[in-house]
Parts: sequence; structure tokens; C-alpha cells
Amino acid sequence: MAFTVAIDGPAASGKGTVSRQVAAHFGFAHLDTGLLYRAVGRQMLAGADPIEAARTLSPRDLERDDLRDSDAAQAASRVAVIPEVRAALLTFQRAFARRAGGAVLDGRDIGTVICPDAEAKLFITASDDIRAQRRFAELSESGAITSFDAVLADLRQRDTRDQARATAPLKPADDAILIDTSQMSIDEAVAQAVKIITQRGGKRADGGAPDRQ
Ligand code: DC
Repeated sequence: MAFTVAIDGPAASGKGTVSRQVAAHFGFAHLDTGLLYRAVGRQMLAGADPIEAARTLSPRDLERDDLRDSDAAQAASRVAVIPEVRAALLTFQRAFARRAGGAVLDGRDIGTVICPDAEAKLFITASDDIRAQRRFAELSESGAITSFDAVLADLRQRDTRDQARATAPLKPADDAILIDTSQMSIDEAVAQAVKIITQRGGKRADGGAPDRQ
């Protein structure tokens, strides 16, 4: 049975972690759609034409180990404004969403454009400061040399571009449920997401007894 969970939100809102844990809870497959744009962005930085890169993207391109840094993030946000790039990535995302056994997709336009008929839609946000604090801690831990102010400026620049673009801008679907994680732990955010998805008819793929969530 197909069951699609669409999770959107701005950078570093916690949507990636929530999506992974929600997918694990229900036994659904998970697609981090940002990775598709990051992989195309990386190829653009290496001199490729982004439209061609999106049309020929392969699973191997998603395994590169340089997709998580801020250069890849900024490049992703830049290629994401190109309608042909978005169109080239659409079919793969839609097919993933309807695979048997359930799927969680996280990104910016999942509830609005990729899966407007998703059974459950969430929009996960947090304040700019909190998001920058989280991203700064993550980057510092991984040994990157940066400052809080640089991380905050980077996030804001990316959000502005993602929200202002003409094609599939970042915004909540009309029927999305908002979760603000500013004052929440990850466990609390996951519990809230699981509750909402269960209310929408989501069931664990293995049919097993619900866990502590
Ligand atoms: O989720 P992320 O930070 O990895 O996404 C990187 C960029 O990719 C983001 O700034 C905008 C773009 N993106 C998008 O336009 N649509 C999506 N569904 C996912 C990401």
C-alpha cells in the first residue's frame, strides 16, 4: 500500500532528522530531496550545465561525500530556481512517493508541487536564531571553521532565495500541519509528527505494535 508523508520547511528546521525518525518508526522509505539539488549544484560548481546534470543524475551522484557543506547548499539553492532542473527531478520524486510500503519525502515543495495528494503533510519550522545555532553546532562538531554570524547569514540568504523563486517556492501547503521546533527536543518533534501521521491513517509497515511514540 502506498502512503506518502510530505515534510517541508526551511534549512536546519529539524525536518531532516524528524523525517528520518518518522520513516524508521513507520518502516517507510525516506528521500531527502535536498540531496538531489545538492548533487546537481555540485556538478554545476564543477562546470557542468545544471539542466543536463539534473536530467542525467544517477544514484551514484548522491553518494558523494561533499554534498553536506555550505558550498553545496548554496549551489543547490541556486540551481533550484531553474524550472528545467526542477522538472527533470519531478518524475523520480513522484515515483518514490508512491512506492509500495510508504514513503517520507522532505524538501521545500513536497506538499505543494511534488505530492499535492500526500496523505499527511507537515511543515517544520524554527526561529532563524535557533536554526543557525543548530547548524553552527553541527558544523563546529564536524571541524568546519565558521562563525555563528556567517551561518545565520547563509541560512537567511538561502531561505530568501527558496521563498522568492517563481517555480515551486518554499511555503506550507494549505493543508499542511505546522510544527515549530524552536522550543522542542527532537524526540518531542518526532512524537508530534508520528501522532499527526497516525491520525491521518499512517500505519507501521510491519503491522507491529506501536512503540513508545
Ligand atoms: O534541504 P537542503 O538544505 O538539503 O536543500 C538544499 C537546497 O535545495 C535548498 O536551499 C533549496 C533546494 N531544494 C528545493 O528547492 N526543493 C526541495 N524539494 C529540496 C531542496
